[in-house]
Amino acid sequence: MEEEDIQAVVEIENLSYPNPWREMTFRGELYNQPVSFPFVMVHKFQEKIIGYVIFWCLKDRAQINNIAVHPDFRRMGVAEAVMRQVLDQIKKAGAGLVTLEVRPSNSAARSMYYKLDFEVLGIKENYYNNPPEDALVMGKFLDQ
Ligand SMILES: CC(C)(COP(=O)(O)OP(=O)(O)OC[C@H]1O[C@@H](n2cnc3c(N)ncnc32)[C@H](O)[C@@H]1OP(=O)(O)O)[C@@H](O)C(=O)NCCC(=O)NCCS
Repeated sequence: MEEEDIQAVVEIENLSYPNPWREMTFRGELYNQPVSFPFVMVHKFQEKIIGYVIFWCLKDRAQINNIAVHPDFRRMGVAEAVMRQVLDQIKKAGAGLVTLEVRPSNSAARSMYYKLDFEVLGIKENYYNNPPEDALVMGKFLDQ
C-alpha cells in the first residue's frame, strides 16, 4: 500500500464496515508504524485495487489488523488466497502465533478464519462500537 492507494482503500473500507477506519488511520499504518505491513490486492487485468490487508509482525507474534475485499469481488477466493500468502510470510518472519479480532456477527469472516484453521482463543467484552458487540479473539499457531 502506498500514498496513492489510500483513496481506493478508504472507499472499500467505507463499503465494508459500519465503523470504518479513517484515512489518517491508514496513513498511520503507512508512515508511523514500523511493525505494520500494509498490502493492497490489485486485479490482474483491470489493474485496480480490489482489497487490502494490514498485519503487524513483531518478533514471535503477528496480528491481522484489517482485511477487506471490495463487495464486487467477494466470494471469489481473493481474501483466502491473500491470507494464505500472509500466513506464509508471517511464518517465514519467525512468528509462532497470529491473532485477530472479529465480530461474532461477521459470519463471512469467521467462516474464512475457521477454513484457515484459526480457533477461538477468547472474547473481549464490549470491544466494538456501532453496533456494540464483543470481539472474538481468534488465533492460529504456526508450526516452525
Ligand atoms: C471477509 C472477507 C474479507 C472475505 O473476502 P472474500 O474474498 O469474499 O472471501 P473468499 O472468497 O476468499 O472466501 C474464503 C472463505 O471465506 C468464507 N466466506 C467468505 N464469504 C462468505 C460469506 N458471505 N458467507 C459465508 N462464508 C463466507 C468461506 O468459507 C469461503 O470459502 P468457500 O468459498 O470455499 O466457501 C469479505 O467478506 C470482506 O471484505 N468483508 C468485509 C470486511 C471484513 O469483515 N473483514 C474481516 C474483519 S475481521
